[in-house]
Amino acid sequence: MTPFAPIELTVYAYDCDAFGHLNQAALLTLLERARWDALARGPGMDLFDRNGVWPAVRKATIEYKAPVYAREVLRVETAVAHRGTTSMTLRHVVRRVSDETQVAEAEMVFVCIDRLGRATPIPDEIARFLGPSPPPRPGGGHPPLRVPAGDVELAVDVRGDGLPVLFVHGFPFDRTVWRHQLAALSRFRRIAPDFRGVGGSGATPAADGYSLARYADDLVAVLDAVGVRDAVVCGLSMGGYVIFELLRRHPERIRALILADTKTEPDSTDAKRDRDELAALVERQGADAAVERLLPRLLAPATQATQPEVTGQVREMARRWSVPAFVGALRTLRDRPDSSDTLRAVRVPALVLVGSEDAIAPPPTALAMAKLLPQAQCHIVPAAGHLAPLEQPLATSRLLADFLGAIP
Ligand code: MLT
Repeated sequence: MTPFAPIELTVYAYDCDAFGHLNQAALLTLLERARWDALARGPGMDLFDRNGVWPAVRKATIEYKAPVYAREVLRVETAVAHRGTTSMTLRHVVRRVSDETQVAEAEMVFVCIDRLGRATPIPDEIARFLGPSPPPRPGGGHPPLRVPAGDVELAVDVRGDGLPVLFVHGFPFDRTVWRHQLAALSRFRRIAPDFRGVGGSGATPAADGYSLARYADDLVAVLDAVGVRDAVVCGLSMGGYVIFELLRRHPERIRALILADTKTEPDSTDAKRDRDELAALVERQGADAAVERLLPRLLAPATQATQPEVTGQVREMARRWSVPAFVGALRTLRDRPDSSDTLRAVRVPALVLVGSEDAIAPPPTALAMAKLLPQAQCHIVPAAGHLAPLEQPLATSRLLADFLGAIP
């Protein structure tokens, strides 16, 4: 139970920038107002004054997840994430009231200071109001569902209600590659598994236990486990190749298609040789060595220069692949068939999107792929490489939300 009441605040035109969006600094002001309003509804706005102390902000971390415009009403939910002797951390979740979209998440660290500006223990009355320090959230997020699939258990993020959307990650990533979309697309039921051998999922010990058929059947096991007959399936790169196999094996489970940074054509002879070399490298030196070789082609140059956290996440995701899964996936990629005919037979709506600087499945390939599909829209995401959902999360989530919102 949080001691802070949720507070609703209206965004005014003067909170917005020249583009009409809620300005990032104005959001900080709104968070401050929400904290004071919550105190006013609880122990009183003079809680700190009457105890002779003041809460000074030492650190503010904000993730902006969706744009906000003038006249929209936001709800700020505030919880105590940590309470120490002289400091406290508050976590804010900000949602748009009209559609419950999470638009921002913030963590604020405060130090309790006295009139001379020295850190001082939090007085008893304030400590009682804040309550005991809560235990840290395991893994910092939602615990995944465990889904039995043949000889392994798969880790699956399942969030929300509404139209089911199955997110299928690529190589060598895991379900966290979709973390922005899983947070932002709150009007839909988001289902995101880790492939076998990856992240929180169990590994088949031998590299020959991995194949397109196996990965596609795992997706069916996931849909069965969460009681979904057919879903919108959204695949990134290798996730797209697995969806092509799902189209061949279980087309009745697919209500609509989203294909991000992927392609229908098989590997060339040179590409097959590169896969074998990379597999040998992973067997000798592990995933770290391989990801250093892959990175330059995975992310747009601007992403590599300006978003070090994205590069860091790619390295982390690759480390969560077991060696057999890494090698098994490379052989699966090497041997995959041409899927052009598979797409020609599709009869459901489709969205194709591609980063403007994708070096692996470049825009002309994506446009050609979209032409194979009878009902496809194709969008190029500016300033993104092969990982548009992670490099340009707002633009990607907006395209997905528009497409999903139009599905009956
Ligand atoms: C992926 O992102 O899944 C890979 O780049 C696919 C590939 O290498 O063909």
